[in-house]
Amino acid sequence: MNQSMNEPPSKKLDNLRAGVLSEMFSFMTKSEEDMERTFAIIKPDAVERKLAGKILDRIEAKGFSIVGMKKIKLSREQAEGFYYVHKARPFFNDLCAFMSRSPVIVLCLEKENAIADWRTLMGATNPANAEPGTIRKDFAVNIEENSSHGSDAPETAAFEIPYFFSTLELV
Ligand code: CMP
Repeated sequence: MNQSMNEPPSKKLDNLRAGVLSEMFSFMTKSEEDMERTFAIIKPDAVERKLAGKILDRIEAKGFSIVGMKKIKLSREQAEGFYYVHKARPFFNDLCAFMSRSPVIVLCLEKENAIADWRTLMGATNPANAEPGTIRKDFAVNIEENSSHGSDAPETAAFEIPYFFSTLELV
């Protein structure tokens, strides 16, 4: 015979409540586990044209939490270190000159599916190929001065976030 059938009604209720709470707790834990962080830059072309506020507005409207943010001016060496994976590409020198010509805003963003969702919000690298309503379609100048950057994978985010932020700066 099922053990629970011998239990008094109040005990059954307790067990039911415990089961429901357990389900809720696992949902909350799962939700926390599913949180993802990505790294983002509002690039010099956008900061120069005073578009940072509009871009931050879109970021928050899409449900990202800004867990780190600062305005900095990259040195040429810092830009080269950040874009090291592109060092063999023909656009590398121009890209590093552009990224170090004036201040940028660096961000650490958090939400479920943050990496993919931020890339969707930015749109394609080349604004000519970007979907309407994306940041690059609406704001970018060209494929290089494309207003924003985002990590393309968890391993990339794991390099890019600590390149600019210490743990104490992520809240
Ligand atoms: P980002 O997402 O920051 O990643 C690398 C950057 O290189 C990219 O955005 C562009 O700014 C730049 N980039 C990529 N492809 C080209 C290209 N074909 N010509 C010039 N710049 C490029």
